[in-house]
Amino acid sequence: MKKIGVLTSGGDAPGMNAAIRAVVRKAIYHDVEVYGVKYGYQGLMEGNIEKMDLGSVGDIIQRGGTILATARSDEFKTDDGQHQAIEQMKKLGIEGLVVIGGDGSFRGAQKLSAKGFPCIGVPGTIDNDIPGTDFTIGFDTSLNTVLEAIDKVRDTATSHERTYIIETMGRDAGDLALWAGLAGGAESIIIPETTEEFSDICNRLERGRERGKKHSIIVLAEGVGNGFEYGERIKEETNLETRVTVLGYIQRGGTPTAQDRVLASRLGARAVELLLDGKANRMVGIKNNDLVDHEIDTILSEKHFINKEMYNLSKELSI
Ligand code: F6P
Repeated sequence: MKKIGVLTSGGDAPGMNAAIRAVVRKAIYHDVEVYGVKYGYQGLMEGNIEKMDLGSVGDIIQRGGTILATARSDEFKTDDGQHQAIEQMKKLGIEGLVVIGGDGSFRGAQKLSAKGFPCIGVPGTIDNDIPGTDFTIGFDTSLNTVLEAIDKVRDTATSHERTYIIETMGRDAGDLALWAGLAGGAESIIIPETTEEFSDICNRLERGRERGKKHSIIVLAEGVGNGFEYGERIKEETNLETRVTVLGYIQRGGTPTAQDRVLASRLGARAVELLLDGKANRMVGIKNNDLVDHEIDTILSEKHFINKEMYNLSKELSI
């Protein structure tokens, strides 16, 4: 393989730039030319593709977002869109593609691989909801952003003796809320993967109030429901003064942590190795700090699970 492409797709995540850098530099290290695709699969279909060199990825390892930009494309989901994308790459002599993104992005990589165009997936999403890897690129940075917000809200919660709901991102996944809630000492963590009776949440708040607790923090993943509605219900049920903070897109930005940069560098470089080894339709990941790779079909047929032990611990520590 003498020419490969790289794109980012779906929601951006801090550390994607470090992954792009690793793909580009690893490929050039092996005398392989690299082409950067702008705006994900949409840009791929439209031929928005540029040759990259060592300098194209200089000074980006510390930057959030993605220099290749990203998009979600409905047109690419069609057979025609996928053929068009392959034609654009063939025109330039590109023989393999690294796709950095989440499960939606891997569905695209699966389709292209099935049409004979080798793709390797690199998991990049703040949600940490991809099976086959302990961590996804962006999760650690986002987690630290949420934790910083919890610590700050805690200051004002103590001063005013209020209950605060902090709503995190995570469409179908509770990892961000769970990890940040445990690290931030939240009284309750409400995530889509578990069910807790609303009355139990209120009882815990009331028990805290009875023993003189001045404030409470509840971390809620957006996948469960609307933070403001939860706030209203809690206020009605407990009569506690309740406020809500929705963290929103600040969770997707910022300088990637060391953890994310290292992860992105390792995963990006391994993706190139797999392509050069003639592999296709695989996703790279990390398990117990070792690099692994799996068939994308397997990844897409599995479900990500939260760490139950952590969830139970969070409950035990917030009695
Ligand atoms: O998948 C990452 C994520 O940030 C989710 O946590 C969130 O629900 C979604 O993307 C938001 O997507 P969009 O950028 O399309 O609003």
